[in-house]
Amino acid sequence: MSDSLTLKPIGFIRTGKRVKFQARHQPVDGEEECNVLELLPGANYEQALQDLAGFDRVWLLWWFHRNETWRPQVLPPRGPARRRGVFATRSPHRPNPLGMTPVRLLGVEGRALYLGACDLVDGTPVFDVKPYVPAYDAFPEARAGWIAEADAWADEPPKYAVAFSALAEEQAAWLRTEQGVEFTPRLVELLSRDPVTAPHTAHPQTPVGRF
Ligand SMILES: C[S@@+](CC[C@H](N)C(=O)[O-])C[C@H]1O[C@@H](n2cnc3c(N)ncnc32)[C@H](O)[C@@H]1O
Repeated sequence: MSDSLTLKPIGFIRTGKRVKFQARHQPVDGEEECNVLELLPGANYEQALQDLAGFDRVWLLWWFHRNETWRPQVLPPRGPARRRGVFATRSPHRPNPLGMTPVRLLGVEGRALYLGACDLVDGTPVFDVKPYVPAYDAFPEARAGWIAEADAWADEPPKYAVAFSALAEEQAAWLRTEQGVEFTPRLVELLSRDPVTAPHTAHPQTPVGRF
């Protein structure tokens, strides 16, 4: 068998999130969002979508197409600043940058899927759609390793008030009006919990980065 396999996207998602920073780390339920995955024409995907509308959620399997490298160890964005093995994380910096996200299915029309909150940037290639089946896919009692610890940290009330200097306000307004990018809410969310710069240089031979 060949040591490489070829996958072809079935479509590209439209989320309106132009930069990675705008996309959530994991989709948050209840957030008002409507994203559209229009499957490519000419492949009978209309038929392949038959019977999907009866599911509340679907799994999207996709490619972190904006990443070109991977790292064996990464610094997760939440919790204490500690490097973790990439296979123990949901980091985008993986040897095969495959993403998987369970999203709410709002509707199906022709080749288009209307989807709720998700963590994909605009234009992300999607390889597959599968129904989310609670009886097979949900194990709420399963141990969540270091992530349970990090989630407890993130659930604590924010520790810091975040104020913007006049220059930062001006720059955020420029990004908003000229580039259509809204950074402020995510910045406040992150800085109010942990304003300390990530120690990227802790081990120069093994680059790490917050993902
Ligand atoms: C932490 S990953 C988690 C992904 C997913 N739930 C999983 O486990 O596969 C989500 C982040 O990936 C980044 N991202 C989203 N789409 C991307 C893309 N097409 N290429 C590279 N990075 C992307 C965004 O910064 C987003 O916050």
